[in-house]
Formats: sequence, structure tokens, C-alpha cells
Amino acid sequence: MPGTPTPLRDMDRLATVVAKDDRPNPSFKISALPGFKKTIQSRRAMRVFDGNPVPEDILRDCLRDAILAPSSSNLQCYEIYWVRDDDKKKRVAALCLGQPAATTAGDLIVIVSRVDQWQSHLRKLTDIMTDNGKTPLKDPVRDYYENIIPMLMKTDRVGFNNLIRRFMLWYKNRREPMVNGPVRRADHRVYGHVQASLAAENLMLSIAAHGYDSCPMGGIDQRAIAKLLGIPSTAEVTMVIGAGAGKPEGLFGERVRLPYHALVKEV
Ligand SMILES: Cc1cc2nc3c(=O)[nH]c(=O)nc-3n(C[C@H](O)[C@H](O)[C@H](O)COP(=O)(O)O)c2cc1C
Repeated sequence: MPGTPTPLRDMDRLATVVAKDDRPNPSFKISALPGFKKTIQSRRAMRVFDGNPVPEDILRDCLRDAILAPSSSNLQCYEIYWVRDDDKKKRVAALCLGQPAATTAGDLIVIVSRVDQWQSHLRKLTDIMTDNGKTPLKDPVRDYYENIIPMLMKTDRVGFNNLIRRFMLWYKNRREPMVNGPVRRADHRVYGHVQASLAAENLMLSIAAHGYDSCPMGGIDQRAIAKLLGIPSTAEVTMVIGAGAGKPEGLFGERVRLPYHALVKEV
């Protein structure tokens, strides 16, 4: 990838399989927690930006953080489109209904649910995990990836697999606790948006940790954006994220949240 040399480019090594887990180090909590709290507290929905893009290496670093988000079965059923072409950017901003959070953003990132890609992602993932078949997976991981995931994910146009799955899960559930889905197409849609949203949150937190601002946008014309970016109708846009340096007037007041016990049930 083009770009000026910077320590962030070391992150390229992390691109395929793992990121370093520093937690066994006893000093981890002391070093990580203050920054984490600061990041969480400083991420706000920024509605007006100064229009300048986030430096390329920084945004690429944030995007790498995004794909470190957890995902169901590690299938990573999403894609992230960093809109770099100026004309496309203007058109995506217009399709965010002209919201200033989009029209003033230096960067626009489109988060897309790709449940339709589960088979291809599964293949790629198992290729990485098995070193292209050289070190086959062992049970129960092999069984999970070869049998259970396809059983849960396989859909067909007429819904035949959905019926089989519904029956199997119902039958098993009579005797023991069992997952209730995904069964229907609607379940798969939810599944995809969940994975995509987790990546989106990682992205926004990373942007905040780098000292920049972001705004998630769901008030958008999803279908038109998908069409513009050449995303097939089997995929769905989850949200668009505006990013850049925020302006003071881009914060619409103090952060407001419902009280802790309205949302957190300690049962
Ligand atoms: C999925 C999603 C969609 C959102 N859509 C919009 C949007 O279209 N326009 C907007 O200005 N803010 C949007 N927001 C931002 C929320 O309004 C904002 O996060 C919320 O008011 C809390 O403010 P805070 O993020 O600054 O804490 C969206 C947030 C999420 C998570």
C-alpha cells in the first residue's frame, strides 16, 4: 500500500491473523485502562467537521482496529468501504440526506453487512487456520466449522434449508438448551448488522483514540448507497460513518444518557 513510512505501518504484520494480546503483562491494566476510559468518554457523535481528511495512515490504522472486533464464529460477515474518490464521497454525502455530519466530513466510511459472504469468509478463514490445508483442524473445531456453521448459515431462495433448520433446532431444543437461530432470512439480516455494528464501534473508538471525531449515520438511503458502491442486493448497508476533525459547533450539547438502572439490570 502507498503511504509515508510511519510506526503505524508495523501494523501491517497484524493484518491477517492475530493482534498481540498484552494482558498477561501485569502492568496492562495500569497502562490500558486510563486511555480506554478517556477514549470511551471522548467519542461523541460529531455533526460538523472541518472538512479535512484524517491522515491516511491513521485512518488505515483505525480500520485495522475495526476488523479486530469480535464476530460470530469469527466469520466477519461485513465489509467496510472507505470512500476515497471525491465524486463518490460527494454522492454518498448527498445520500446521507445531506446531513452536515456527512457533507462536512473529511472521510466517509460505509459499513456493510455481508451475511451473503459467509461461505467465502468461512473458506478464507479455514485456509488461514489450516495454513491452506497443511495443518487440518481438529475436533471439535473442525466439526464446528465444517458442519455446525453451514447448518446454521445455509439459506436458499425457497427457504427449504430454513424449514429443516427450524425443525432441527426445535427438536433438539425439546431436550436441551439450543440456539434459536439464525433460522429465517430476518435472523440472518439481524446477524449481519450485529457483526457490522461491532466493527463500526471499534472503528469509532479507534478514531477517538487517535484524537479525531466521528458520527455514525443511520438516516441514510441505504439502497442507493449500496448501488453507488456496486454492492450487490444480497448485502445491506448498516451505517455510514463520517470522520475527521470536529468543530465546536458540531457537538449538540452535553452527553445525555438514561440512568444506569434503566438500562442495566443486575439480576
Ligand atoms: C446506528 C446509529 C445511527 C445513527 N444515525 C444518526 C444520524 O443519521 N444522524 C446523526 O446526526 N446521528 C446519528 N447517530 C448518532 C446518535 O444520535 C448519537 O450517538 C446519540 O445521540 C448519542 O450521542 P453521543 O454519540 O455523542 O454520545 C446514530 C447513532 C447510531 C448508533
